Amino acid sequence: MTLTIAIDGPAAAGKGTLSRRIAEEYGFQHLDTGLTYRATAKALLDAGLPLDDEAVAGKMARNVELAGLDRSVLSAHAIGEAASKIAVMPAVRRALVEAQRAFSQRGPGTVLDGRDIGTVVCPDATVKLYVTASPEVRAKRRYDEIVAGGAAADYDAIFEDVKKRDERDMGRADSPLRPAADAHLLDTSEMSIEAAFQAAKTLIDAALQKK
Ligand code: DC
Repeated sequence: MTLTIAIDGPAAAGKGTLSRRIAEEYGFQHLDTGLTYRATAKALLDAGLPLDDEAVAGKMARNVELAGLDRSVLSAHAIGEAASKIAVMPAVRRALVEAQRAFSQRGPGTVLDGRDIGTVVCPDATVKLYVTASPEVRAKRRYDEIVAGGAAADYDAIFEDVKKRDERDMGRADSPLRPAADAHLLDTSEMSIEAAFQAAKTLIDAALQKK
């Protein structure tokens, strides 16, 4: 049996860092599913294709190669915005969810993080975490990250952006962001990365012991 750890939550909640550490800890393969939406969006932008044509975007999504995903070339703000827009389209989601499900079967186990892993992609995951933090804390973390990278940042603009992204991700009709009924909630507003990792590990160890 392949063990699957599903990690969902809003933008900038710290899912990425947490998921990578968890995958390393358990020796599992990791897929950041946000990158699949970002890669589709970037391919459309690069080809000068529209972001509002579902047939075109769905076709692009079917060509996304999981092996080639790299956050460093997909991190631009414009790509994140475009990804959030095309993520409302069922044809895009169908294609990407199929690739994500295939990935989740890889041995010895997998960690997938995104918005709909516990609810849609892997409803039978071994353990589900819903990682969140207040919009203020998430905006501050993103702000600190940008400033640490040596660039200028505007906290108010980032905060507005976080709220707008939440509305779009939680408000869409197809696979909106929400915790699965059997997900463990992890609010990291008051936690360091290390504390969040330890809390996640305790939950995962307990779930794996029952298997
Ligand atoms: O996590 P991220 O910022 O890289 O994700 C970019 C967008 O992709 C996000 O705003 C919504 C979409 N997405 C999604 O709809 N479902 C997922 N499982 C992952 C991301």
